[in-house]
Amino acid sequence: MPEEEFTGQAVEVAQVSFKYNSLKALDGLSLQVPRGVSFGLLGPNGAGKTTLIRLLVGLLRPGAGTIRILGQRPSRKMAHLIGYMPQLHSLYAELSIIQNVDFFARIYRLTDKAERARRVEAAIRLVDMWTRRNDAVQKLSGGMKQRVSLACAIVHNPPLLFLDEPTVGLDPELRVTFWEHFAGLTKQGATLIISSHTMDDAVHCDYLAFMRDGKVIARGSPGDLKQATGRPEATLEDAFLHFVQRGQQNAI
Ligand SMILES: Nc1ncnc2c1ncn2[C@@H]1O[C@H](COP(=O)(O)OP(=O)(O)O)[C@@H](O)[C@H]1O
Ligand SMILES: [Mg+2]
Repeated sequence: MPEEEFTGQAVEVAQVSFKYNSLKALDGLSLQVPRGVSFGLLGPNGAGKTTLIRLLVGLLRPGAGTIRILGQRPSRKMAHLIGYMPQLHSLYAELSIIQNVDFFARIYRLTDKAERARRVEAAIRLVDMWTRRNDAVQKLSGGMKQRVSLACAIVHNPPLLFLDEPTVGLDPELRVTFWEHFAGLTKQGATLIISSHTMDDAVHCDYLAFMRDGKVIARGSPGDLKQATGRPEATLEDAFLHFVQRGQQNAI
């Protein structure tokens, strides 16, 4: 079946474990992400979010278990279907914004020059950096670098996006702007997997997986997860603590 016609889950992770030498970073983790949603991976530092995303984009291989994205095993062949914004940006400091985004567009096989120029401009405009397009990245603030990094991840209009802590260090206004971009992308049918350690981000996601110690301890919509505490006034922080105390539980 051509991958465009694949109608199953965007991401399927079954019983995945991963070790860095003797350190178990992921411990029998399972997860399904439906298509066309924003899905938050929420958990404290060290929970395994980055490791999971690196496995999903094919940079690491699982020690045990299986991973399918858009119905296939992650591989280089799928690069044009995936956008990846790493936790630490991977921009070229001496190059300008437009050169950076164009570089990623080439990696993602946008070979037609006119089409590539159009996409590069659209991506830079989307993150509102077009007026600074000829500035070297090293001249930009941290928040601006993050915006450029997002432009690099979305330039090829991928159906599946992995964003690793994209809102860290953003001021509140910029955070809102990012979430507006993300909502626009899912509206167009893209699937977004977004990691965060703050519940400020969690409220914006359609679905969440709470992660801790390399495991998913709960998953569901923000409403489902709050409701599972049995307290109407519960916040998502309360819900997270509830599941930490209860051990492994699913809200759905
Ligand atoms: N390259 C690495 N080498 C050794 N241990 C690592 C490496 N990357 C992460 N870890 C460890 O794996 C665990 C999960 O880390 P990580 O996936 O980065 O979590 P998160 O992104 O949720 O903060 C942590 O205990 C971390 O110290
Ligand atoms: Mg991380």
